[in-house]
Amino acid sequence: MAKINLPLENTVAFACGLPVMFNSVIKELKLKGIKEDNVYSNLERRRKSGVGKCQHCAIGRTLVCIDGPVYTYKQIRTLGEQI
Ligand code: FES
Repeated sequence: MAKINLPLENTVAFACGLPVMFNSVIKELKLKGIKEDNVYSNLERRRKSGVGKCQHCAIGRTLVCIDGPVYTYKQIRTLGEQI
């Protein structure tokens, strides 16, 4: 990623895969100046039933299975969730 030139005004990034990789990818995107609102990821791994009943996916007042699972990086940080 360090070698890729991105037009910041037109760039949106989607990070998926193993959570351990997210921090490295997001760190590179931030170094390139991409806004946190333009970086998306998902918290799919938190879901269990997926129908809003078991509370397993609750992060604060958010239910990942209902309100997500895709969030901006800024939202994920605000939720206090570790990527
Ligand atoms: S997965 Fe059970 S409430 Fe969301």
